[in-house]
Amino acid sequence: MPDLVIVHAKELATPLSPDGKPLLGDDLRELFVLEDAAVVVENGNIAMLGPTRDVLASVDVPPENILDASGKTIIPGFVDPHTHLIFGGAREKELVMKIEGKSYMEILEAGGGILNTLKATRNAGRESLLAQSRKRLDRMLAYGTTTAEAKSGYGLDMDTEILSLEIIGELDRTHPVDLVPTFLGAHLIPPEYKNDPDGYVNFVIEKVLPVVASQRLARFCDVFCEKGAFNVEQSQRILQAAKDRGLEIKAHVDELVPLGGSRMVAEMGARSAEHLVETPDDAIEAMARSGTAAVFLPGTPFVLMTHHYPRARNFIEAGVPVALATDLNPNCWTESMQMIITLACLEMKLTPPEALTASTLNAAYALGLSEDRGSLEVGKRADLLILDAPGHLHLGYHFGINLVEAVVKGGQVSQAHGLQHGTELH
Ligand code: NIG
Ligand code: FE
Repeated sequence: MPDLVIVHAKELATPLSPDGKPLLGDDLRELFVLEDAAVVVENGNIAMLGPTRDVLASVDVPPENILDASGKTIIPGFVDPHTHLIFGGAREKELVMKIEGKSYMEILEAGGGILNTLKATRNAGRESLLAQSRKRLDRMLAYGTTTAEAKSGYGLDMDTEILSLEIIGELDRTHPVDLVPTFLGAHLIPPEYKNDPDGYVNFVIEKVLPVVASQRLARFCDVFCEKGAFNVEQSQRILQAAKDRGLEIKAHVDELVPLGGSRMVAEMGARSAEHLVETPDDAIEAMARSGTAAVFLPGTPFVLMTHHYPRARNFIEAGVPVALATDLNPNCWTESMQMIITLACLEMKLTPPEALTASTLNAAYALGLSEDRGSLEVGKRADLLILDAPGHLHLGYHFGINLVEAVVKGGQVSQAHGLQHGTELH
């Protein structure tokens, strides 16, 4: 018997990919769209979907298991493939500095930025760090994220990096949102190694990474390959060591200065490369060849007020799998994939259907999870959103508010404001 049947949705819109391949090029905008749609959920998976009349004629379901979505739109749950979920404190004072014209690197050099968050994270203690992070995760779910990546990277010492990854594991087990853990020990050179950056690289490779790998605390290893953080050679050493220990690899590249990181990680077979504001054509082609996902983070140029965004259309034309993510962090603090979709549409010229695929199926591909999620298809997980909107074209368009009315995660209704249960069959 079905756990849940959602009926009479004004529209259901989803990318399709039975085998989990990402949608590329012109296919990025090809959605399956159905009117007066119904979805049947059984054992946390989608058992059937189709026109309401056909679905109700073929399932036996008690009225209390029916959810009426009249006038609403069903889409897949968002997958957010790049978040710095675990951090202590906040950096609201830096907004004023940015408004007054200070750059990201100037704020960092003045002891702000990541270094400020490093102190707050190290000093937070387990319970407070867990509570602060859980609150963000609650908000992500309310805004429609059903699976997310989460990184360490604000500890930059053995204890706090391991603690951050343990907290990600605990949240994954105890919260409806599924989390994919990433080790970002190479986020910045911490103050203790200020005069010995290679010493820190060695510490990450020889001391921290073996613990992360042997305790299976992370699926991915990430580095911040950037001027003032880790150069290409240091980044490559860390990523190679991670690969050798069985982790998958991804990297922050080309955010501010094009060092060549995007090309390097594509050639190493990275699952994804992120930011990509300054990526040259040859690296875009290398990413298309290797199937490395481009994860765009338009929240970052937005909050840095650079007015300079990734050349998303060039990546799409080249056949790179493109995805979107929040980059949730204390510099770019948003839990909302809907906000990111708006920025992607208005600043990077993605159409709403393209942005939807980049936030669901292709984002799941960027995490290696697209075989069982990211699209609404029989046999895939029942992770879906009911939007208070008459169609998916309201994504990106109706902005600054939360369109999500209900979140169904693995078949369980996790957030619902005002939807009617127990509607009569008709
Ligand atoms: O992806 N750029 C590096 N890391 C984060 C920002 C971290 C921070 O400013 O706290 C990012 O944007
Ligand atoms: Fe980031």
